[in-house]
Amino acid sequence: MSEGRTPKGLFIETYGCQMNVYDSERMRDVLAPLGYAPVDKPDDADLVVLNTCHIREKATEKVYSEIGRLRAHKERRAGEGKGMTIAIAGCVAQAEGEEIIRRAPEVDLVVGPQAYHKLPELIARAARKTGERLAADFTAQERFDALPARAADGVTAFLSIQEGCDKFCTFCVVPYTRGAEYSRPLADVMTEARSLAEQGVREITLLGQNVNAYHGDASFADLVRALARIDGLERLRYMTSHPVEMTDDLIGLHGDEPKLMPFLHLPVQSGSDRILKAMNRKHDGAFFRDIIARLRRVRPDIALSTDFIVGFPGEREQDFEDTMQLVRDIGFASAYSFKYSPRPGTPAAAMMGHVDEAVQNERLQRLQKLLFEQQRAFNESQVGAVLPVLVSGNGRRPGQKYGRSPYLQAVHFDDTQARDGDIVPVRILAGTQNALAGARVVLTPEVA
Ligand code: 5AD
Ligand code: SF4
Repeated sequence: MSEGRTPKGLFIETYGCQMNVYDSERMRDVLAPLGYAPVDKPDDADLVVLNTCHIREKATEKVYSEIGRLRAHKERRAGEGKGMTIAIAGCVAQAEGEEIIRRAPEVDLVVGPQAYHKLPELIARAARKTGERLAADFTAQERFDALPARAADGVTAFLSIQEGCDKFCTFCVVPYTRGAEYSRPLADVMTEARSLAEQGVREITLLGQNVNAYHGDASFADLVRALARIDGLERLRYMTSHPVEMTDDLIGLHGDEPKLMPFLHLPVQSGSDRILKAMNRKHDGAFFRDIIARLRRVRPDIALSTDFIVGFPGEREQDFEDTMQLVRDIGFASAYSFKYSPRPGTPAAAMMGHVDEAVQNERLQRLQKLLFEQQRAFNESQVGAVLPVLVSGNGRRPGQKYGRSPYLQAVHFDDTQARDGDIVPVRILAGTQNALAGARVVLTPEVA
C-alpha cells in the first residue's frame, strides 16, 4: 500500500492451475502501488477479481454463479454508499470475454492473461464508465516485460518462465486461450530468480503450461543448471511438463543436480494407445513407461505425479483397463483425474463415441480409488525415514512446524526452534493419504 492513501480492499478468487495462482500474486503486486490491500471477504472489497479457469465445464459454470453472488455484495455495498469493481480475469475472460460482457452487466472489467500489467489503467477506465470493458489481446512478451519483479511471499515462490502451448491435444482449450508457446529470455528469468533468492526464497517452482518446452536462449535443462548455481536457492521444481519434451539431458539432470527435487508432475492422460492417439498426445504408453524407467534409473527415489482424463470420446472398457494397468505398473505418489468435458471449439468436442456420464463416473471412481491407495502407500512408506523438510510456517498444533519434503509431501512436525526457510531433518512417524507427521531430529554432539 502506498503512503498517504486510504487502503482499498482487494479480493482475488483464484481457480484452476498454478499458473493462475502465480498470476494472482502478480496482480496483487501491480495493484499494491494503487493502494489495494488484500481483504478476507468480498463484502470488504473495493475491487474483486475472479481469476478464472476454462479447462473444464464446471469451472466456467462456477464463474457465472460466482458473478451472481458478487452482484448481491455489490448491491449491499451500493446501499452503504460504497462501490465495488468486479473484474473477471484468466482463461474464461480470454475465451468468453464478449459473452461475459453481454450476460453480466455487473461486471466492470474483463481482462485476459496477457493484459494484467494494464490493470491500473483498465480500472481507471472502468471508473470513468467509458463503456470499454474488455481487454483480452496483448502479447506474452509485452506482458512479461511490463509486470514488476515478483515480491516473494515467504520461502517458496513460483516463477513463470513459459506460457502457452503449441501441442493441441484434442480435448484442451489452452492453445486457444493462452496462445502459442512463448519462452522468457534466460537473463530475465535469472534476474527474477536472484531477486527472489535475495528476499529469502529457498525453493522456486518454474511454471509454464508446457514448462519443459522452454526454448528461450537456452534449453530447459541449461536453464535449470544456471538457476541451481544461485546461492541461497536450495530447491528447484517445475510444472507442468509434456512427455515428449523430456530430453535425455533433462532426464540425466534429475540424477546429477541435487537441487532438482525428486518429484515430477508428468501428465499421461490415458494408458490406452488408441485414446492417446485420438487425444493427439504425440506419445504412446510405451514411450511414457520408458521415460519413467530412465528417470528411475538415474534417480531411484523419484516420486511421480500425473493427470488422467476418463471417458474421452470412444473410450471402451479395455482402454480404461489399459489406464488402470499403467497406474498399477508405474505407481504414482499423487495424481489428478478428471471426467472428460467437451470444450467448445476443440476437435474432441466434435468426435463420435460420447461416453455415458454414469460410465464416466464409475470409471473415475475406480481410478481414484486406486490412485488414493497408491498415494497413501507412498506416504506410509516414508514412516521411519528422516527427510529434509523446508520449513514454511506453523503446524496445526502449538509446538508444531509445517513444511514440505523433497517429494512435495506436506509435513507437520514437532519443533519449536526451526525458522521459516530452514531445511531441517525430520523423522517421519505417521503417514496418511494427504500428509506426513513427524518430529525434528536433534543432532546431539558426540560425547568424547
Ligand atoms: N476435460 C477434462 N479434463 C481436461 N483437462 C484438460 N482439458 C480437459 C477436458 N476438456 C485436464 C488434463 C490436463 C489438466 C490440467 O486438465 O488432464 O492435464
Ligand atoms: Fe493442453 Fe495438451 Fe497443451 Fe497440456 S500439452 S496445455 S493438455 S494442449
